[in-house]
This record gives sequence, C-alpha cells and structure tokens, in this order.
Amino acid sequence: MAGPLPIGEKWPESNQLQPQNSANETFHVYVHVPFCTVRCGYCDFNTYTQQEMPGVALAEFHLALIEEIRFSKSVLDASGLSPSGISSIFFGGGTPSLFASKQIKLILDALQSSFGFAPGCEITMEANPESTTAELLSGVREAGVNRLSVGVQSYDPAVLKVLDRQHNAGNINSALGAAKSLDFRTSLDLIYGAPGESYESWQETISRSLELQTDHVSAYSLIVEPGTKLARQISKGELEAVNEDLNADKYEWATEQLEAAGLPWYEVSNFGEIAQHNLAYWQSKNWWGYGPGAHSHIAGNRFWNQKHPARYQQALEAGSPAAGLERLSERQQLEESLMLGLRTKFGVPRKLLSQLDVDPLKVAEQLSLGYLSLHGDQIAVTKQGRLLVDRLVVDFLQ
Ligand SMILES: C[S@@+](CC[C@H](N)C(=O)[O-])C[C@H]1O[C@@H](n2cnc3c(N)ncnc32)[C@H](O)[C@@H]1O
Ligand code: SF4
Repeated sequence: MAGPLPIGEKWPESNQLQPQNSANETFHVYVHVPFCTVRCGYCDFNTYTQQEMPGVALAEFHLALIEEIRFSKSVLDASGLSPSGISSIFFGGGTPSLFASKQIKLILDALQSSFGFAPGCEITMEANPESTTAELLSGVREAGVNRLSVGVQSYDPAVLKVLDRQHNAGNINSALGAAKSLDFRTSLDLIYGAPGESYESWQETISRSLELQTDHVSAYSLIVEPGTKLARQISKGELEAVNEDLNADKYEWATEQLEAAGLPWYEVSNFGEIAQHNLAYWQSKNWWGYGPGAHSHIAGNRFWNQKHPARYQQALEAGSPAAGLERLSERQQLEESLMLGLRTKFGVPRKLLSQLDVDPLKVAEQLSLGYLSLHGDQIAVTKQGRLLVDRLVVDFLQ
C-alpha cells in the first residue's frame, strides 16, 4: 500500500482476466477504508484526513465500495473465475472503526449476496482504540465481523506521543474489554523501536498486552518510511534514529514472552492463532482488494486501483477503478512463493529452491550457520534466521 503504484499494463477493456495459472485457489477479500482523523507521523499508508479529501464523504464511502463489489462480480463471472464462497475478509486502513456499523453491514451484505461466505469465514476489522466504542463493536459483531485487530502500538504515553497516536492505555483496555465481552477473536498490533522507546518501555507494553488475553499479536519493527514526518524529524536530529541492535533484542525478548504465554511464532512479525487472511497472502491465494489503491491477486494477475479516493470514485463511475495490471510470469510467481513462504514457520518445499536455480552452496551455508533448517521436504528459517529472512531471499535470487 505504501509508496507510488506500479506502472503495469492497462486494465483490459473487455473487463475479463486471463488466468495465468491453473490453480483453483480459495478466494479472500480486502476492503480498504482510506480515512484517518490524524495522520500518524510514521505512516505512509494510502489514507487521508477529511480536510485532505474535500468532496469524498466518509458517510457515503461504502457506496463506492459496494459499486466495486458489483464490478468484481461481473469481471469474475465473465472471466470464468467465479469463486465458490469467500474464505476471509479483512477491513483495513486507514481506520475502519471510523465507519458506522451500518456501513460495514451493507458491505458484508453485498459481498455475501455476490459470492457467499465459505464455512468459518474469518471476518476481521482493524480498529483504532480511540474510535472503538462498545456500540460500534456490538453493531459490527451483529453484522458478521468475528475478529478485531486493535492498533495498540504501545502502552507508553511518551511513545504514543512520538508516534502521533490519539489513544491512551484506558482506550486500549476498554476496546479490548468490549471486544472480549462480545466474543470477538482479538489481535493486537504493536510497534517496537520508536525513538525514545527504552527496553523497559517495550517490556511493559508486552506485559500489559499479554494481560489482555489476546488470541494474536503482530509485533512490527518501526520502519522509517521516506517522506514521512518521522523521517524528517530524524534527519533534522529532532528524534533519534532507530537502534537496530536494541530492536533485535526487543524482538527476541518479545518472542520469548509471547511464546511462553501460548502465542507461538508463525510469521516474522506474527504470533498466536494463525490469521487465515494473512496466510492467504503468504500462500499467494486469490484475493480482491476493494477501495482506493487496493491491490488484487487473481489467478496469477496482479492489479491495483486508483490511489486517491476522489480519482477512485471517478474511475468507478467511468467503468473500472483499476489503474493497472500485471500478468505474473511463472518465475515471478515462484519468486513470490519463496519470498512469502520463507517468512512463515511452514517454510517452502526444497524443490522450490531448485526450480528457482538457487545456488545449493548458498543454501548449504545458511543451513550450517543455523539460519535455515530442514523439516523433511520443507526448508524453513530458524529462530536466529527470522529477522534475516528478507536479506536471505535477496541473496538467493541474485
Ligand atoms: C496502517 S495501520 C491501519 C490500522 C489502524 N489505523 C492502526 O493504526 O492501527 C496497520 C498497522 O500498520 C502499522 N504501521 C503503519 N506504518 C508503519 C511503519 N512505518 N512501521 C511499522 N508499522 C507501521 C500501524 O502501526 C498499524 O499497527
Ligand atoms: S491511524 Fe493507522 S492508518 Fe491512520 S495514519 Fe495512523 S497508523 Fe496510519
């Protein structure tokens, strides 16, 4: 979602997709809600405050998303790719908790009537603690949302301030309390490595998060995205740069605590009960991303929407919200499987490395250094290799 969109080919005038592989994959849905009350200084996601988008109304934005659902149904039907039910749905942002529950319900109704829901469909909504009221939660729970991903980030008021977050510890606890009482499965997003965050501050964040008895935690290392307020503050010396060594220690400590609390590691930044939606991305399943700038991946085609919400709405009215499309070659699909699969505890089949002509000596070296290990026919990162996995993959593909 971050950064400029790729260039790609034009969206086909026929509104039909050509399958680039024969896989009969499960179907997943991402819905992007591009509104925030304030832009956090570290974030470069495709999201806007209301002042940045005159003419784009939050209260009516679900109508555009529902229009895109109709569009996707006609594209998939015309392409012979109609799914037999949705296996997971993820409302992300931006701030989906700024929507009224009625808007979430109308979107879910449109998805259900278009494609149906597969049994056990996981329906997650991202929520910012300050806009997560008991009333909103009860409405979206009734509408079908069964998993809540709460943007906690930190329990330390100084860290929350550096990150420009609008919530406090009280908001976090009441959002989680309400979610638990409504029987949501819960996930917490945490960030480590913010300027000024001490080791002890991070320990406190982990301990207090674990008191919430959550099912899942995503622990992200703070990325200093170019062009953000945070990047400017660091380059001017107003804030200190991220300390990579301290971050590695924080990650290791968090891993131990989370695992001891019954939230096993399963992907570089993820712990606990596996999120089916994330797994779908990592296993390159089929998904349609609705909303401005959202990316889709259907039968080896990757395509993406107009990024700005006003242009997205105009493009939808003109016939298609898509800004571009890329047909993935077999090699690109294999590379993607390696990049994504190796980040997970499942790893990848050994034969994938030979299909990609990865130098066996490089693999042997990483095995002997203890960054990779073999499990039958699968190869996976070890505990020591987790934070190095992206670099390993780049080296393998050179
Ligand atoms: C884009 S937000 C959307 C959900 C919600 N608005 C929130 O902030 O929790 C999803 C997650 O991405 C994280 N995120 C955004 N920018 C990041 C960055 N530069 N480094 C690490 N995590 C980041 C956020 O902190 C949040 O946990
Ligand atoms: S609330 Fe979430 S999406 Fe919005 S600016 Fe902050 S991190 Fe980004």
